[in-house]
This record gives sequence, structure tokens and C-alpha cells, in this order.
Amino acid sequence: MPPLYSDSYYTTLDAVVNQFNFRNLMSQSTPLLIAQVTDTHLFAEADKSLFGLPTAHSLQAILAQVQLLQPDLLLLTGDLSQDETATAYERLRDLVSPLSIPAYWLPGNHDNPEVVAKILDSPPISAQKSFTAGGWQFLLLNSQIPGQVGGYLSPESLDWLDSQLTSSSDKPTLIGLHHQPLAVDSAWIDGSKVANAEELLGILDNHPQVKLVIFGHIHQEFDCWRHNIRYLGTPSTGGQFKPRSPNFALDEIAPGFRWLKLYPDGKFETRVERLSWEVYQKLLNCGS
Ligand SMILES: [Fe+2]
Repeated sequence: MPPLYSDSYYTTLDAVVNQFNFRNLMSQSTPLLIAQVTDTHLFAEADKSLFGLPTAHSLQAILAQVQLLQPDLLLLTGDLSQDETATAYERLRDLVSPLSIPAYWLPGNHDNPEVVAKILDSPPISAQKSFTAGGWQFLLLNSQIPGQVGGYLSPESLDWLDSQLTSSSDKPTLIGLHHQPLAVDSAWIDGSKVANAEELLGILDNHPQVKLVIFGHIHQEFDCWRHNIRYLGTPSTGGQFKPRSPNFALDEIAPGFRWLKLYPDGKFETRVERLSWEVYQKLLNCGS
């Protein structure tokens, strides 16, 4: 595989890092910096492609960009593998662990929760689904229905969420799950949103400390406020889906990830970052 990066690529990344440093100097309190990395869709085979992109190489390029930002923790929000093999999860572990950044994960519809739990549960990766950092509470949900594409939250998951929110009402809270709880105006992918999303939204509405809900699955950026909670969808580290398309369609836009700066007072900032067009084109050439 040819080198992915040119000098101009690093110049672009330097600009991103400098922008971060400037914002840090301007802030009044120290925020927690998080990177959401989602829908990595790794295979047992190292060079295998999905939607024209070699998913492991694309993830490597994303992680190189993430590492320059030096986040405090990573959130991996499902579809970690495409083939549910142990080898795919071992590849993910071997790509993420060298960053030495605490990482947490939740399963997507393409994952096998039992297999992934055995492999992604040693430092710096944790299988915990409830934890605190930077004065925030983090709660990660499993919206997977085994063998199905669509999302659903079991009564046990919803009860757990409600009890966690009741017992930690003093902390601003981020909820993570794989499937989108709100429609994203794309009929084919909205057919697999969380089927009982109203039950989830009803719980969240009763807990004003919830500030953010982040998810993957939609392979595109999404940003919507509802009842003082911000709902954020994040691009895949691989192929992208065309927004607002009624039928399945790929988008010609580079893979990406999302950063979030969480302040102890509950305020936050966020933005999606993408690979440069140059790196994206090289990845496409590798995958074709
Ligand atoms: Fe996905």
C-alpha cells in the first residue's frame, strides 16, 4: 500500500491541532476531550474493503488524526466489525491500544457482543458501560437485536438507564448507543432506527442532567436539539451514506470522526473532522 500522507496533509493537521490549543487557552475551565470513532466495520482479512474502502486502513488514517488531538478518551459506538470474527476485534484492539488512550465501546448490529466482550476488555480498553470522567457521567446502551439490522432497547436496558440517571442526577450526562433514536430524514436508514425510541426519549425527558446523546449507524453527520438535549450522529471511519436519500446511496465524502469537549459545568463543544480529500482518494484507490 503506498504512503497515505503528504506534507500538505500534515500541514492541515497542524492547523487543526493549533486551533485546539488556542481554544484551550481561551477556556475558563479544563474540558474533557473525547473522540467518537464509529462504524469501523473491520474484517478478519486485513485488506478487505466495504463500500470501496479498505476499512482497517481507513481506520488507521482516522486514528492517526485522532492521536494528534490527544483526546482524554475514545468512545467506539458500534459496528466495530463487519464479519463478527474474533480476528476483526483483535485487529481493532491492536490498532487502538497503542494510542494508550482509555477507550470504551458498545455493540452495533454487525457485532457479536459475546465475542467482542472477550477481546475488548483489557487496558486501555474497557467493557464498562457506566463510568465518570471530567465531572460527566457516561452511559452506554446496547441497542442491538441479535440477527437484525434495526435497533431496540430492551426493558432491562431502559430500567438500567433510568436507575443510573436517578442515582447520578448531579452530573451532566452523555448517553451513547449505536442506532439513531431520532429519524434522520432518510427513509431506508430510518427503517432501522431504535424501534422503541419513544420509551428512551420519555426517560431522557425526566432527567435534565442529560446533555448529549451520540450514536453511529447512519454513516453521516447529524445534529439536532430536542428538549434541551443535543442528538449527534457521526460519520463512519469508512464509507459514508448520502444524507436525506430515500434509498440506499453512498456519499462521496471522506471518512471522519467527532470530537467533543465537555466542560464540568455541562457545557460542551463538538465538531466532525474528516480525512483530507487526498488521503480519501488514496484509500479509494487501495480499495478498488
Ligand atoms: Fe455501520
